[in-house]
Amino acid sequence: MTHHLSVWRAAQLLGVARGVLQQQVREGSLVLSDGLVPIDELLRLYPEAQLEESGLLERVAQIRDEAFGKRVRERLMPSQEVLAQRLFAQTQELADVRKHLQHYHRLVVELQKKARERAQEHPRDATWQDMERQISQGLAQALATESVNLLEVMDDMLKIMTAQVTVRPSGHQFLVEGHANLLQSGLHSGLRLNYGCGNGSCGMCKVRVISGEVTQTQHSDYQLSETEKSQGYTLMCCHTAASSELTLELLEASGPQDIPEQQITTQVRAVTALAPNTRLLHLQTPRTHRLRFLAGQSVRLGWTMPVTGDVHATYPVASCPCDDRNLLFFIRRDSTDPLANHLFAGDIKPTAAITVLGPTGDFVLADGHRPLVFAACDEGFAPIKSLIEHALSLDAAPSLSLFWLATGGDGHFASNQCRAWSEALDQFEFELVSDHDPVAGASQVALAMRADLFDIDCDFYLAGPADFVATLHAELRAAGVAESQLFTEVL
Ligand code: FES
Repeated sequence: MTHHLSVWRAAQLLGVARGVLQQQVREGSLVLSDGLVPIDELLRLYPEAQLEESGLLERVAQIRDEAFGKRVRERLMPSQEVLAQRLFAQTQELADVRKHLQHYHRLVVELQKKARERAQEHPRDATWQDMERQISQGLAQALATESVNLLEVMDDMLKIMTAQVTVRPSGHQFLVEGHANLLQSGLHSGLRLNYGCGNGSCGMCKVRVISGEVTQTQHSDYQLSETEKSQGYTLMCCHTAASSELTLELLEASGPQDIPEQQITTQVRAVTALAPNTRLLHLQTPRTHRLRFLAGQSVRLGWTMPVTGDVHATYPVASCPCDDRNLLFFIRRDSTDPLANHLFAGDIKPTAAITVLGPTGDFVLADGHRPLVFAACDEGFAPIKSLIEHALSLDAAPSLSLFWLATGGDGHFASNQCRAWSEALDQFEFELVSDHDPVAGASQVALAMRADLFDIDCDFYLAGPADFVATLHAELRAAGVAESQLFTEVL
């Protein structure tokens, strides 16, 4: 019988993006059976040799390596308690299968014996002889040792190391690795989960377990009622998956309208000069009060200046919602921006308190499976970076392309980040463009897009000054891109 895998597990085993397999399903080159990938289909498309490149074998070797650091082991390996629970469940499943096989074996041997007796009683009746021969051959075949399929072995092992969670009613899936709890794992996978404190006191991450087992990983002050407990409710921030498959019922935010406004007092972790006129501001929220936002959104920052009072400014968040405690901003020198003036003057130092109010804005990733194309001009790279990181967490797009125009002396102040993505990910490519004029630069970007992209059936995200966005938008519309595939943010 053919072994079946979920698309997520198959992607993990092969070391390819989930979006790549989903694209093959849509194109018809990979045929699913009841929503699952048959292993022989997978082997037809991906020769077994590719397993060597999947990274999984390497990861297993790393875990075995005694010298490998405790931190990495914690990231990859679940706790001993969770491992024991998953191993117990798998051993129980194996014991069940063994019991069933023994029953079937006894039944077939009994039938073989009966057929042999009938064949001896009726030597002229070929039917009994044929039946006896068929049963004997089938039995010999079933008992013969067949080579084990490596993918099947890997899948079984993966089920112990990582749990797969399916979310109802959206159908989204995510994996739980290492010591991560359900909330952290869901956020790292790009899901728009409902939560608040992240430490078991507010109850906002409450979900219902439909199937599978969870185990508590930290104490919670929030008390579930007896009815909620009996209905299977649990807190995502205080539990992890104890079984290798888990189904949860929960509501995800469908868009910016579902994210409440929040006010949080954060602390400056660092101010880093990326270029003469660009600073990276790193804020950290308290552990118990994180910022819930969608990639591509902005927040209003406030700093209280000794004696003279507050200064405010709104900036797009340049980091991923999956790291909701660490908020990054690219801030440009601008004489009309009082907060930037103080930052460049060195008045805002590490440990200073900065108020974050928000989030605002609807420049967020749309649902869909098209290839994603991002275009940024100067600091427009901030919301684009957040969107790219979110898209990488979701792992649903078959490919991601970035075109970044620099118009000033600060150039591509975070080009290292682009190179890092490109080196780490097969499905990511980028092109850096320079032109002092945003309009001429937008036309150059449009030309580069036409040269690099073989079709226009992509979703395009454009961020930067108004003239850059308007010019590129017009060029793409003229090239035949539908309005519904264009998303813009003017900064
Ligand atoms: S996020 Fe507050 S209890 Fe889980």
